[in-house]
Amino acid sequence: MCGIIGYTGPLEAKRILLEGLSGLEYRGYDSAGIAFFDTDSQIRLVRQVGKVEALKEACGRIAADSHCGIGHTRWATHGGVTAENAHPHQAGRVTLIHNGIIENYHQLTEEYHLAEKLCSQTDSEVAAWVLDALYEGDPLDAVRQLTKKLEGTYGFCILFADRPGEIYAVRRISPLVASYTHSGALIASDLTALLPYTQKYFVVPEQSIVRLTPYKVQAYDQETFEKLQPEIMRVNWNMDAAMKNGFPHFMLKEIHEQPEAMKNTVLPRLSKGLPDFSDDRIPDALFAECSQIHVIACGTAMHAGMVAKSIMEPLLRIPVTVTIASEFRYQQPLIDSSTLAIVISQSGETIDTLAAMELAEDLGAKTLSIVNVKGSTIARESQYVLYTHAGPEIAVASTKAYTVQLAALYMIACRMALVRGIYSREEAAAFFGEFLDVIPAMEAMLQKQEEMKAVVSHLIQSPDAFFIGRGLDYAFSLEGALKLKEISYIHAEAYAAGELKHGTIALISENVPVIAIATQDRIFSKAMSNVREVKARGAFVILLTREGAPVDKSLADVHITIPPVRDIFTVFPIAVALQLIAYYASVGKNLDVDQPRNLAKSVTVE
Ligand code: M6R
Repeated sequence: MCGIIGYTGPLEAKRILLEGLSGLEYRGYDSAGIAFFDTDSQIRLVRQVGKVEALKEACGRIAADSHCGIGHTRWATHGGVTAENAHPHQAGRVTLIHNGIIENYHQLTEEYHLAEKLCSQTDSEVAAWVLDALYEGDPLDAVRQLTKKLEGTYGFCILFADRPGEIYAVRRISPLVASYTHSGALIASDLTALLPYTQKYFVVPEQSIVRLTPYKVQAYDQETFEKLQPEIMRVNWNMDAAMKNGFPHFMLKEIHEQPEAMKNTVLPRLSKGLPDFSDDRIPDALFAECSQIHVIACGTAMHAGMVAKSIMEPLLRIPVTVTIASEFRYQQPLIDSSTLAIVISQSGETIDTLAAMELAEDLGAKTLSIVNVKGSTIARESQYVLYTHAGPEIAVASTKAYTVQLAALYMIACRMALVRGIYSREEAAAFFGEFLDVIPAMEAMLQKQEEMKAVVSHLIQSPDAFFIGRGLDYAFSLEGALKLKEISYIHAEAYAAGELKHGTIALISENVPVIAIATQDRIFSKAMSNVREVKARGAFVILLTREGAPVDKSLADVHITIPPVRDIFTVFPIAVALQLIAYYASVGKNLDVDQPRNLAKSVTVE
């Protein structure tokens, strides 16, 4: 979950590391540090609790020039948030940064008699001391030996005191990407840190050790030390995509980018008005031959799966199971070779999702991932991948990634209905024609943001909020509640509206905000009965319906309408409304919208 950057080359390394860390801060933001070779080829270390700004200030006081160094932003796993626990860690001749978890660090501490030596409580420092003990002047050999000792996951960047100008890197599961550019050699946990210098990169292969010098980046096979030629990839994002571009927060920018992201994801895959995955090399047989679907994901991506279930099951008439990835692994899931596992992840690095996907594959499922980050682990390791084209999502709260994941899922649903003979070509084209109306509907909701802003003055007075809906509206509510709680810290829960009176309604009292979503014609009157029940108990009702819905005005304290798209597509404009409500609630409470407390963008630890 931590952010990693390394640089060696002709430019001033401190500046590159600090700028890189600012761009990577969304990966972790409790502390940060850098280590670099100074002009006397001595390694200097600066670590600071807090955000990268604090580290920049501390580094500003250091005059030393540098051309090679490593930097890290931390999301604490082992040990509290202190300067000693911040990376880099130094152990004898070794200085390193680490992303991941070393599971056997207790055993290694004993085996190498490290208890007296350790200055921090981290597993990473243990790895540094073990590496120092193994180092006899050959970095490749020492790193190879280290990997044999470690259990767990890691992405390491390492400086050896007697190898100025060189950085060594190795990884297992935790992501690392590297590039050689005219400005020198770079390595990072995340593509966004490379973007100011290059759009070309390679994913550090597992089972390899990478050496960066000012003139080259070379990957070596971990066993034979033969030179490897990893596949060079090109990202189509540019720096603008990773900047706020005039918006006060990344989240607001990303909410506004959604119509464009939808077009980028959907339009290149339309052929004669039908979804077509030939360019993604996803064969129709994958959709024709499965007898059940398992959706595996975490957080917002899992909520996209919940919507997919509500769409796919009635349309395709096959079971669609949605499982939280961290639970999937321990549930002995019913999977066989006729199962299609759809694995959803913005980052493509969420470790629970990755592990669950590996299990599904071991059990015989075919795996299709829906991923935003090109070349990420889940994308590479799934049998088929459908990339969403949302561009980099920097705010910790996921917004545009969610709606493009949904777009991909609706496309899959439509293609499956076609190849399974449920839809004729005309019916599939009609479905998709109507689907495209969601893009202007999302644009229309962005025009209404003042309405969402107005709602929050009441919302932020309350410690709790409830989201209610039935059917598909319930699936949307789950995401609305997650968005609100993660960035406004208001305790928010989503309930199937009909379930309230089985317990939860006890929590509804005078002025408690209830966000009621009622966009489904078939169950509209039932949903309104549930609204009536909470209103009767004094709730402050924020009601979201389609324009023209027959609403009894006395039930809603605030009534927000979405354009009249077909009921199975209402999630798109509703998502925009709920994201804006959460955004303005966070702004209204003066909180850190883009980097909420305790969270990190990409969850690469279990
Ligand atoms: O990168 P992923 O899509 O796999 O991430 C999954 C979740 O960690 C993520 O959606 C998380 O729930 C977001 N913070 C929600 O806004």
